[in-house]
Amino acid sequence: MITGGCGFIGSHLTEYFIKMNYSVIVIDNLRSGNFKIKAPNVKYYEIDYRSKKVDQVFKLEAPDYVIHLAAQIDVKSSNDDPLYDANMNIIGTINLLQLCKIHNVKRFVFASTSAVYGNQGQGPVNETAKLQPISFYGVSKLSSELYIQQFSHQFSLPYTIFRYSNVYGPRQRSDNEGGVIPIFVKNLNKGIHPIIFGDGSQTRDFIHVHDVAHANYLALQSEENTIMNISSNHSTSITDLYEIISKICDEPVEPIYEIQRSGDILFSQLDNIKAFEKLGWRPQKSLEEGIIEMSKYVKSIGG
Ligand SMILES: NC(=O)c1ccc[n+]([C@@H]2O[C@H](COP(=O)([O-])OP(=O)(O)OC[C@H]3O[C@@H](n4cnc5c(N)ncnc54)[C@H](O)[C@@H]3O)[C@@H](O)[C@H]2O)c1
Repeated sequence: MITGGCGFIGSHLTEYFIKMNYSVIVIDNLRSGNFKIKAPNVKYYEIDYRSKKVDQVFKLEAPDYVIHLAAQIDVKSSNDDPLYDANMNIIGTINLLQLCKIHNVKRFVFASTSAVYGNQGQGPVNETAKLQPISFYGVSKLSSELYIQQFSHQFSLPYTIFRYSNVYGPRQRSDNEGGVIPIFVKNLNKGIHPIIFGDGSQTRDFIHVHDVAHANYLALQSEENTIMNISSNHSTSITDLYEIISKICDEPVEPIYEIQRSGDILFSQLDNIKAFEKLGWRPQKSLEEGIIEMSKYVKSIGG
């Protein structure tokens, strides 16, 4: 079962698991996603993952594994309305955990985020770093992590928690965590000056969505309950990102610099050694390769 399977990451996971011969059940209320993969063995339930109807789906389908991606993902919205964010991200996750416990799910895989770390300064951050989120989104994801661990502790529910860095790739919306890539690609393809907030020295760690899908696949083969970063372990400044994307544009235009946004993390780079040690996972796609693919995708949808 994949919650949020019609979203950016969820639709890639659905495709990946179909390719690996799994039967996939998707729960999605189409709040922000709309990518239904047309494959005979995907079953879509258009419902809210917090609703009572999810119980019926568990009874009917008896999923072996639950990959929980559906969420309120917007950092700014979380700060504007922490109650809504908590209801979606914390209460909704508890609802699923209860059902996983009742229906003896073999593993619960959770999409957490680098936002749980907050500002850590430069250099790679590993899973043992002090957790100090600077947004309610980071707080609600961290709370979910604690609930998952408590369910595992009290009811032996096996789990894998992935803390993703900035995920990018085809079908990505511009308002999610790696959104700067589709925005820059779209603007530069059209000759529109991209906006850089601050001086462009802030860094991000971009990981391709196919690498994320592969990590989820490996998680289902694993026996351990653990928390792992899924990242490239490279920090790319926004200025460098602009340079990489301009190189593949026919007529690149200069960026416009605007005042730095409050609440933006300055440096982001996640250590990914644990995912290699525990799952044998390593990122396969370079940022340059991924951006060329992204540019083709954006053009193909008329962006
Ligand atoms: N994109 C990133 O860079 C990134 C980084 C770190 C963590 N994550 C996490 O990965 C997960 C997926 O992110 P995404 O970028 O694919 O987001 P997305 O918005 O593209 O996908 C989320 C999906 O969940 C569905 N959904 C939302 N609320 C729902 C509800 N109440 N009931 C049922 N379905 C609902 C949406 O319709 C959408 O299809 C999220 O949990 C997010 O916090 C994403």
